[in-house]
Amino acid sequence: MERRRILCAVSGGIAAYKTPELVRGLVRSGFDVRCAITASAARFVAPLALETVSGHRVRADLFDRAEEGEIDHIALADWAELVVVAPATANLLARMAIGMADDLVTTLLLATRAPLLVAPAMNVNMWRHPATRGNVEVLGRRGVRFIGPESGALACGWEGEGRMAEPARIVAEVTLALGPRTLAGERVVVTAGGTREPVDPVRSLTNRSSGKMGFAIAAEAARRGAEVVLVAGPSALPTPPGIRRIDVQTALEMRDAVLGEWPSARIVVMAAAVADFRPADRALQKIKKEDLPEGAAPSIALVRNPDILAEISALPRDGRVVVGFAAESHDVLDSARRKLERKGCDLIVANDISREQGGFDSDRNAVAFVWPGGPVEELALLPKTEVAAQLWDRIEKRLGALPRDAGAEPSAGASR
Ligand code: C5P
Repeated sequence: MERRRILCAVSGGIAAYKTPELVRGLVRSGFDVRCAITASAARFVAPLALETVSGHRVRADLFDRAEEGEIDHIALADWAELVVVAPATANLLARMAIGMADDLVTTLLLATRAPLLVAPAMNVNMWRHPATRGNVEVLGRRGVRFIGPESGALACGWEGEGRMAEPARIVAEVTLALGPRTLAGERVVVTAGGTREPVDPVRSLTNRSSGKMGFAIAAEAARRGAEVVLVAGPSALPTPPGIRRIDVQTALEMRDAVLGEWPSARIVVMAAAVADFRPADRALQKIKKEDLPEGAAPSIALVRNPDILAEISALPRDGRVVVGFAAESHDVLDSARRKLERKGCDLIVANDISREQGGFDSDRNAVAFVWPGGPVEELALLPKTEVAAQLWDRIEKRLGALPRDAGAEPSAGASR
């Protein structure tokens, strides 16, 4: 099986002498590891040591043509499924926090879309300094995960927090963060965000949706090894690593994209908030109030958009799994049950948008899984990343119970 790809970024602290041991541990655990080091890291750890344990040339210079020729920095940033920064000095944390790209390592950290695991190491007073505290907080809010530092005797002579986490602990965290590739070989389509239905060149009707839930679902599927297509309505969210993204504006464009991907997909998760109606006519020029009688407003005739979820659920299923979402403000579970029946999908993920916490724009969500025939599983308020993991656990279980015959054009006689 293909080895999972880890980029190990090393900055210049005394703990860097432990990095070859970390790299060795990662390689022994079956990972493919490449190293990138800062100029000051090279004063603490010999590039040759990292090269020998990783089996790859170490990258150290953004402008070295031989190094760039082998794998350029953007290709390396994209190559990584996970980036481990060990050790991370106070200086590197500061440069990461403000998004500097003034050497190879910071450029890689800015360019990669892979999750970051950071193992800080520094003097206890540097770690406790409000400037470092602030940087750690900023990075944490951006999704960076910290391992350590641990407490104990520091190389500088002080006692306290500041020791880099032990290599074995970092290896364990990496293994946990990457998780098993339980969806390897599966093709997945996820829709996310709201659609935008133009009224004229400047105005549109849209549904409220940050896209965060759908993006988290797509990211988790990719993390588990699936080939993922993300059909996204207008959204500024970055594309998670390893995903093919199709940007769409309208429900009709989303329908075309989903139907185009359907034949080769095995799992479709429709997390998008699709506008149910669109303006019957799209004015080619901006509708101007000056062109209307004084005080008058135009009326906009609406027509129904196709229900993409109902449409694909009615196609021959051939072992596929189709999941819909139901954002409800009242009678959440009853509405979700009715939706499940009406649309004919395999599972509805219901969420209560009237709650104060979770839902729109939030990083957390409280959902219930509503299954055909009545069973309901209600989850607590959880980070959307965790909701995504729980959803994929359920889908995987269901896939295990289905024959593996999807992925080709559905045959005409098949039924769901
Ligand atoms: O009908 P309602 O919008 O509440 O249903 C929500 C579910 O149906 C979501 O999974 C959404 O992506 C999907 N949907 C759709 N096409 C529509 C409306 C909703 O696929 N026109």
